[in-house]
Amino acid sequence: MKLGHYELGVPVFLAPLAGVTDKAFRETVCSVGGEYVWTEMISDKALTYQNSRTLKMLDLCGEPEPRIVQLFGTDPETMARAALLAIDCSANVIDINMGCPAQKVVKNGEGSALLKDLPRAQAIASAVVRAVKVPVTVKIRLGWNDDEIVAIDLARRLECVGVNMLTVHARTREQFYSGHADWDWIRRVKKEVSIPVIGNGDVFIPADAGRLIEQTGCDGVMIGRGALGNPWLIPRTQHLLKYGTLLSEPLIEERMQVALQHFDRLLRYKGERIGLNEMRKHAVWYIKGVRKAAQLRDEIMQTRSPEEMRSVLSRILQDVG
Ligand SMILES: Cc1cc2nc3c(=O)[nH]c(=O)nc-3n(C[C@H](O)[C@H](O)[C@H](O)COP(=O)(O)O)c2cc1C
Repeated sequence: MKLGHYELGVPVFLAPLAGVTDKAFRETVCSVGGEYVWTEMISDKALTYQNSRTLKMLDLCGEPEPRIVQLFGTDPETMARAALLAIDCSANVIDINMGCPAQKVVKNGEGSALLKDLPRAQAIASAVVRAVKVPVTVKIRLGWNDDEIVAIDLARRLECVGVNMLTVHARTREQFYSGHADWDWIRRVKKEVSIPVIGNGDVFIPADAGRLIEQTGCDGVMIGRGALGNPWLIPRTQHLLKYGTLLSEPLIEERMQVALQHFDRLLRYKGERIGLNEMRKHAVWYIKGVRKAAQLRDEIMQTRSPEEMRSVLSRILQDVG
């Protein structure tokens, strides 16, 4: 499939994950062979106020193209201005969030609240498309709840105003992350529009992606939770789709080495206090399935310095070595 002038084949995207897909994690995914990554969602208002924390989220320096930045907001003009600012920070694609279910986002009319106001959703997409020269994409859910599925209506409206690609997370807002993603809606949306449709929801092993494409005809897949502590899932899934063969899972040694590199990046980009704090959750994800994981988890949560964190992760490495 094509996105603007980018030829992406059948892409496997790392999903936007707030609090997770920061620069350190995106670089980690790319370091193990991932190709297509997404930023966390970024507030249009915060960006237009030049909030310093928000500007840091837009450090895309050295990252491969296409650099996809996700924005959330509710006012078309502010979204358009924020999109231009993101492009100034070297974004190559602007993605619009129409799926975040969090109450603090929805109460401002942002994220999945737009599923209840399709004219506004369309106006936002239209304003961004008119303002920028780069491809504009949108990530949606199916609707607010089972009684109000709007995915097809919304997809048609977005295509109409010039959106280049659509990602469908096949859940409703009321579902949050519970239950199953209903992939059949991805198939129905794909049938109704001619822009590329990316399927999203419940891909946890590479074979899931193959089934998702087979069942829906979608043009690519997006993976979120499956990549937590498991950045290899992105390139292993891409490899399976491209060559039809399954790469083996990384050994514990490689997992810990990559976790340590991930930690170094967090320290570099976020400093010691925030870097250590954020590494605790990543480290717990990285050790999933390791022997005595429960005990290690407690040790990780109690680390008080980068040295202590490195020492726990290195010990796991030595124990298996
Ligand atoms: C911790 C977390 C943070 C998320 N942050 C975002 C976000 O910033 N923007 C967005 O569009 N979706 C966000 N999502 C939703 C994911 O991108 C994805 O649509 C969802 O997790 C379903 O895919 P999965 O089943 O592969 O996890 C988030 C999900 C999780 C679990």
